[in-house]
Amino acid sequence: MIDADHILTARGLDKSFGRGPGRVDVLRGLDVTVRRGEFLAVMGPSGCGKSTLLHVLGLITPADGGELAVDGQAVGMGAAQRHALRRDVFGFVFQRFNLLGVLTAADNVAISLRARGLRADGRVDELFEAMGVADVARRKPSQMSMGQQQRVAVVRALAHRPKIVLADEPTGNLDSANSNALLDLFRRINRDHQQTIVMITHSAEAAAAADRVVHMKDGRILETSR
Ligand SMILES: Nc1ncnc2c1ncn2[C@@H]1O[C@H](COP(=O)(O)OP(=O)(O)OP(=O)(O)O)[C@@H](O)[C@H]1O
Ligand SMILES: [Mg+2]
Repeated sequence: MIDADHILTARGLDKSFGRGPGRVDVLRGLDVTVRRGEFLAVMGPSGCGKSTLLHVLGLITPADGGELAVDGQAVGMGAAQRHALRRDVFGFVFQRFNLLGVLTAADNVAISLRARGLRADGRVDELFEAMGVADVARRKPSQMSMGQQQRVAVVRALAHRPKIVLADEPTGNLDSANSNALLDLFRRINRDHQQTIVMITHSAEAAAAADRVVHMKDGRILETSR
């Protein structure tokens, strides 16, 4: 199950929500493999379980069953291992951003860095510039547009230069110029720093930026189109 070429391997993942007649089986024996340094796009209809999959891969939500290996380690249920991998390996762009409302954009990024023993430096300023949100760095999320919040969430996810970026519809609230800037940045970090990217998207244009596109249906990864 552990293969040096693969930074993420999931086998037979199951995940359900609720019990009894209201139970929803979201992941149903899902297999997926992501190569080290790959830029992968995940597509699929609304409600098919893409966010759930990303939360399971990013060790935010535990699966009910199946096996998962991250960066050469088999992942168990132990909180300490899961926390360390989450902190050290992943950068996450949440579909709803999950920025802390009481903090400015700059402090949202700074606190995420501090949790990893890092400090904001010139590279963080470059990320704010690249995402076109340097001018709102001193504002709180409630004083920003959805698209600005989304771009700050991207800065936060990339600031610690994670090996794996998990991005849940990161262009979902962006106009085409900002989408292109984000996709350029993703391609750049993927090419220059071999950072692996798993990006959920509904946009064929965004998916075209990836090396490979997979589709999700009925709780599984269906087919590989590239
Ligand atoms: N915490 C939860 N409790 C109960 N049901 C949930 C929970 N989270 C997700 N679901 C259900 O699981 C299914 C998959 O949801 P998920 O958010 O993963 O879909 P998605 O593919 O990301 O959709 P979208 O494209 O709209 O973001 C949906 O039917 C949803 O209602
Ligand atoms: Mg989703």
